[in-house]
Amino acid sequence: MQLILMGAPGAGKGTQAAFLVKKFGIPQIATGDMFRVAVKSGTQLGKQAKACMDAGKLVPDEVTIGIVRERLGKDDCKDGFILDGFPRTVEQADALNKILADLGKTLTAVLNINVPAEDLIGRSVGRRVCRNCGATYHVEFNAPKVEGVCDECGGELYQRADDTVETMTNRLNVYVESTRPLIEYYKKAGVYYEVDGRQHIEKVTEDLINVLTSVKG
Ligand code: AP5
Ligand code: MG
Ligand code: ZN
Repeated sequence: MQLILMGAPGAGKGTQAAFLVKKFGIPQIATGDMFRVAVKSGTQLGKQAKACMDAGKLVPDEVTIGIVRERLGKDDCKDGFILDGFPRTVEQADALNKILADLGKTLTAVLNINVPAEDLIGRSVGRRVCRNCGATYHVEFNAPKVEGVCDECGGELYQRADDTVETMTNRLNVYVESTRPLIEYYKKAGVYYEVDGRQHIEKVTEDLINVLTSVKG
């Protein structure tokens, strides 16, 4: 199963990917997470990515496409994967078609988590992420049992550097300009599905699984 989880910044891609990984046993390929690992390691890629991420801009297509091509060729992707945050431009989507063709695979479904713009800044600014295992929380909508501590592993929760009102405003503008056109792109390809992302987290998961069940037949 080759899936794309689409949605604006803060729509719930990472939150839902975690459930789908458990349910289907295929890996989550999140370009944002991969860039954050590179930033932490201080590599050349990390330095380049950090400048873009801090500004709320996209990392250049050729860089992003290169890391995804390499990642999708790994052994753990042979039975499928969940792309989270990729593709984000038409150029990336075209490149993904080529990568899939080279791997002899096709897209199973593009799942768009639809959340209105006015909810997204609050979701982003209230987000907390576990430094150790990456689990995602929200101070109001999905609070951990103990403030600042991960329920799953006891790790410390932190706030992402790009989760400020200012950077988030830029990220949302970039989304509208560069990424939202992919909705039409994948509608035309006949693989597009949408769920209402304003519902409770569990209900969004249920809707996504229902779509996938119908797609797989
Ligand atoms: P990335 O890390 O992908 O960030 P993003 O797309 O902006 O998305 P987020 O991770 O912010 O949101 P999400 O949809 O995963 O939401 P989450 O589940 O955490 O990218 C970061 C940067 O990296 C980019 O700006 C860019 O610079 C670069 N980059 C990445 N990919 C790239 C690419 N392909 N090309 C170029 N550059 C790239 O949920 C958000 C919050 O809401 C959480 O607190 C959560 O608990 C809460 N929440 C979730 N679901 C619900 C719900 N149903 N109800 C209430 N609250 C909810
Ligand atoms: Mg995410
Ligand atoms: Zn944790």
